[in-house]
Amino acid sequence: MLDELPDKVSVYEVSPRDGLQNEAAPIPTENKRRLIDALVACGLERIELTSFVSPRWVPQLADADLLAADIKRHEGVTFSALCPNAKGFERARDAGLEEIAVFLSASETHNTKNTNKSIAKSLEVFSEVVPPALEAGMRVRAYVSTIWGCPYEGDIDPKKSLGITKSLLELGCYQVSLGDTIGVGTPVQTRQILSMFKSEISLEKLALHFHDTRGTALVNALVGLELGYRDFDASVAGLGGCPYAPGAAGNLATEDLVFMLDRMGVGTGVDLPLLLEAGHIAEAIVGRQLPGKVHQAGLPSLRA
Ligand code: HMG
Ligand code: MG
Repeated sequence: MLDELPDKVSVYEVSPRDGLQNEAAPIPTENKRRLIDALVACGLERIELTSFVSPRWVPQLADADLLAADIKRHEGVTFSALCPNAKGFERARDAGLEEIAVFLSASETHNTKNTNKSIAKSLEVFSEVVPPALEAGMRVRAYVSTIWGCPYEGDIDPKKSLGITKSLLELGCYQVSLGDTIGVGTPVQTRQILSMFKSEISLEKLALHFHDTRGTALVNALVGLELGYRDFDASVAGLGGCPYAPGAAGNLATEDLVFMLDRMGVGTGVDLPLLLEAGHIAEAIVGRQLPGKVHQAGLPSLRA
């Protein structure tokens, strides 16, 4: 299997959104901009900037309008943001964003805690968000959370997650990111879930979103890579977690993913030394040590 590795995969950077949304102390907008500029400088071409959600639910991202409107744009770089409803879409459009991401959970309980809605109601709301967004010339991505397990309901039937994913694609989302929100997935489970998705949906329409809460994010990403998945969400230095999923910790660290891929000859277009610098900016911004392995260990001095 490993001899069929691709030349290149796509990394979707979520640290300014998934990474920062859980931080309790307010982070000045200027510091968020500094982090985003550093991520662009690394060569990352897809970056989730923020969320146009209720500021009461996620106070840390209350500056979304200002941040997205003023962020320096770059040729070839797509900025995206989470949008839960029509109000979020309008805010993102007014800020000039080219892409949004709708989100829901495969678990009814997590979806209600996270968005105050049933799954059916979320899909109904998205049917009023996706078409106008597409008409406005935006691309729409989507997330399905808790596919590998829910903090409230435990195991989730993968067939249910698959059905929700298909509904999102039918609505016009170009890609659905499959989330192990609380980092409980194992390689065996990942192989089972991703094999099932792969048998029903073409792979460019799927991305993988692993949280590294229990140290299994990178190995699960590798299982995905071996199965042909080519889109990986990650967060610099492992920053992050969902505020409405108790125990959720940081995403797969971008440095860990890029380091592994680089050394296996799989390109990402990301400059690793510059990425390490971005990780140190992230650490300075939140004022505490971040968990990424390569972030902490640095790069080895290996000779070719
Ligand atoms: P609600 O309270 O049911 O909303 O929240 P509502 O429609 O009843 O409106 C109540 C008030 O909120 C109104 O204001 C609205 O205008 C306002 P009022 O009249 O009371 O002054 N409001 C908004 N304000 C700004 N922007 C908006 C917006 N919508 C309503 N878009 C809502 C429903 C969905 C808004 C809320 O539950 C919410 O914002 N939830 C977001 C929670 C969140 O961001 N969670 C983390 C992201 S998900 C995640 O991390 C998982 C992921 O990473 C994948 C994975 O790891 O698996 C994506
Ligand atoms: Mg997440």
